[in-house]
Order: sequence, then structure tokens, then C-alpha cells
Amino acid sequence: MLLPACLSKSDNFRLSYYFQNFIKNKMKQDIKIAVIGGTGKSGKYLVRALINQGYTFKLLVRNPKNFQSDYPNVEVIIGDASDYNAIVHVIKGCDAVISTLGLGIPPSEPTLFSKATTNIIEAMQHCNMQRYIVTTGLNVNTPFDRKGQKATFATNWMYENFPVSTTNKQLEYDLLAKSELNWTLVRLPQIELVDEKPAIATSLEDCPGDKISAASLADFLIGQLSDKAFLKKAPFIANLP
Ligand SMILES: NC(=O)c1ccc[n+]([C@@H]2O[C@H](COP(=O)([O-])OP(=O)(O)OC[C@H]3O[C@@H](n4cnc5c(N)ncnc54)[C@H](OP(=O)(O)O)[C@@H]3O)[C@@H](O)[C@H]2O)c1
Repeated sequence: MLLPACLSKSDNFRLSYYFQNFIKNKMKQDIKIAVIGGTGKSGKYLVRALINQGYTFKLLVRNPKNFQSDYPNVEVIIGDASDYNAIVHVIKGCDAVISTLGLGIPPSEPTLFSKATTNIIEAMQHCNMQRYIVTTGLNVNTPFDRKGQKATFATNWMYENFPVSTTNKQLEYDLLAKSELNWTLVRLPQIELVDEKPAIATSLEDCPGDKISAASLADFLIGQLSDKAFLKKAPFIANLP
């Protein structure tokens, strides 16, 4: 933005701050987000943050009893992420998709992740959408990793104890990596269901901590709507130790 030369540095700073906030607020009014998995442990924090920040969104739920709110800017779509038509229904008219899909209660089939990802990629292409932000575990591997002892141990443990869902989450990464979407796959350590928002660290190579606050995660996911740093990447995030 070009500013008149007669303005002082602090005037410039105030104007630039005002301008950035104006753009942020305008963006919230103008964009609509499709949310998948918003009734789960981390998803509830995401939905609460979206409501608090004034976003308009559509929410896919399996069981409508799991989401009750009088927030006016949310449209609830009932359906299952393994059903292509339900995915089209929830993403239609939106500008970006955020997913905190997990197996839930009662647990879905452990191959849900690749099924949902296949549906989401196809539906987003069909609807001419690009931005997809999704969470997964730190067990997913990428060619850019240099996992340390802890993340390597956790990855092996997941493969030994939950071989089907862990293999399926790796398949989710492979599908995204091959897709033309602007995806970000956020790799997580244990999620702490707390309202505190400690500072977080990110890394493309190894998990920088043992825990992530659900409230910090929600802000990070929303921040990815306007941040291009992790397009087509799979960052680990964790609370700063
Ligand atoms: N929790 C952790 O500590 C942790 C740690 C590392 C990584 N992660 C990863 O983070 C992601 C989210 O984890 P979370 O613990 O928040 O998940 P979660 O509590 O299991 O929530 C899963 C969400 O997905 C929904 N869901 C399940 N099956 C579905 C289906 N077939 N169709 C539509 N929606 C469906 C659930 O809906 P219902 O309300 O109907 O069940 C719920 O909203 C997962 O990928 C998980 O592996 C979690």
C-alpha cells in the first residue's frame, strides 16, 4: 500500500495495522469454510474458534445431536465423510476445507482417511476449490523427514498397535502429495484439550514437542487459510516446551 509521504513512521505503522485488520475482517466476511470432524475432540475447539472469530461455515456431522448451537452463520450438513455426495454437499459454495476427521464415536472403519481424502480431492476439483487443511498423527512419514528417537518410536508403536489406520493415514499423505490441491497436512503429537494457548513450534522434519494445545491448534488451522508457508507441505506442530 502506498502511503502519503507527509505521514510519520508511527502514523504509517498505525495505518498498516488498521489495513491488515481490515483485510483480515473482510476475509472473514467474504469466505465460507467447510468443516469436517468438527464434533470431535480437537474439532470442537476449531468450531468454537471459528464462531468466536466470526467466520461463516458449513459443518458435516454424522449425528446432529453432537452439534447444538444458535450461531447464525453455520449450516449443518448431515452425512458421512465416506459418502462422496455428502462431501460435495458440505463443500459446495465454500472457499476452503478444514478437516479434523478422526475415527470418532462410534469408531468409523480404520480406512476412513483414504476414503474421505479421495472424496474430498475429487469433490474439491469438481467444485473448483483449492485450499485443504487437514490434521493427522506424527506417525505419517514424508521424504523430507529426519525424525528423532521419540517420533520414530511413536511411529513404530502406531504401526505395531494400529496397523490398518496407521497405514491408511500414510495413504492419505500419498493421495494428497499426488493431488493438485493446495493442501496442508498438519502432523500432531498428543492433543491436550485445554483453553490455554501456549506458543507453538513447527517443523517439516521432526516433531518439536510432545503435546499440542487444542486451542493453539485451532488458531493454527484457521491461520493456514491466509498463510502460504505450508502449501503442499506436512508440518509437525507442538507446544513450545
Ligand atoms: N487426539 C489426539 O491426541 C491426537 C493425536 C495426534 C493426532 N490426532 C489426529 O487428529 C485428528 C483428529 O483427532 P481427534 O482426536 O480430534 O478426533 P476424534 O475426537 O476422534 O473426532 C473425530 C471427528 O470425526 C468425525 N467422524 C468420524 N467418522 C466420521 C465419518 N465417517 N463421517 C463424518 N465424520 C466422522 C467425528 O464425528 P462424531 O462426533 O460423529 O464421532 C468427529 O467429529 C485425527 O486424524 C487424529 O488421528 C489426534
